[in-house]
Amino acid sequence: MDTAVQLPASSLYAKCIDASKRVRWEIDRDVIRGRKFDFSKKFLPDALARIQNFAFATPAEKRFISQVQGRTYANMFGMVERSIGAKLLDVTRLHALGDQVVFESLVRFTDEELKHQELFRRLEAMMAAEMPAGYGFVPSPNEVATVVLSKATWAVLGLICNIELFTLDHYRQSIDKDPEASDLWKDVFLFHMKEEAQHAILDELEWQRENARLDSSQRDAGVNDLIALVAAVDGILQVQSAADAEYFLKTCGRALKPAEEQQLRTGLLRAYRWQYIVSGTKNERFMSILSGMLTQEQMQRVVKGLTPIIQDAEAVQ
Ligand SMILES: [Fe+2]
Ligand SMILES: [Fe+2]
Repeated sequence: MDTAVQLPASSLYAKCIDASKRVRWEIDRDVIRGRKFDFSKKFLPDALARIQNFAFATPAEKRFISQVQGRTYANMFGMVERSIGAKLLDVTRLHALGDQVVFESLVRFTDEELKHQELFRRLEAMMAAEMPAGYGFVPSPNEVATVVLSKATWAVLGLICNIELFTLDHYRQSIDKDPEASDLWKDVFLFHMKEEAQHAILDELEWQRENARLDSSQRDAGVNDLIALVAAVDGILQVQSAADAEYFLKTCGRALKPAEEQQLRTGLLRAYRWQYIVSGTKNERFMSILSGMLTQEQMQRVVKGLTPIIQDAEAVQ
């Protein structure tokens, strides 16, 4: 679908419906297929887990870190999809008595996100049954969605567009390329990516539509909301990386030295900042859409908000 973004908007919505029908999958029949996770393999690939930041860890501990991060990765997607589904329902409602092709494409989008949430709940149950007790996913999907839905539609659609674009990058650049990752793990994100490819196109269309509706002061307020949303995401990452560090410390089977514990905590926060914030800023499509909407001053404000997070995530320990 990548090349389709040059087509007129109306046919793009129709193409997304066609692609959505073509790639449609079921959780048990196509993705899980009666399989279990192979805990002798990694989950999140090294590039996304930023495994080079965990020099203290043995090979087995690195594999466990990849599995803990992978469990959180699945839960993070399940959580953000609650916000995405709720926001898409609002946006879809605006088209209910308008172009029925647009309406159908967005209904399918929301339906797919409901299925993805179910998939990630299933994965969490499968991982909980096989991993040591004590893991906790801290953020509440509904509390997060309440914060997200309180922000300007322009900002929320921008954030959603960014998430769905980096989902594609993560699969194509890292998950598909790691020969040591669990087969079921890779399949989950292959099938997920197949539907996200259409979502990313629809996000862009709806974001551009909303952008065209705004005057400059409304857009400026949207920029502030987008910066606030990134800060809220970072707050979630700080809480969850601390919880995952505690889980590792309790279950890794040895007492870490203070310097090793510090490396674990820093490494997890840097990895999560990389996954959910910084990798999205590397997406050229997203940055070109955003810079096309904003003034230089607004763009500088966004970059200023992101810079400390990018510098931390890219620092080497
Ligand atoms: Fe999804
Ligand atoms: Fe999606």
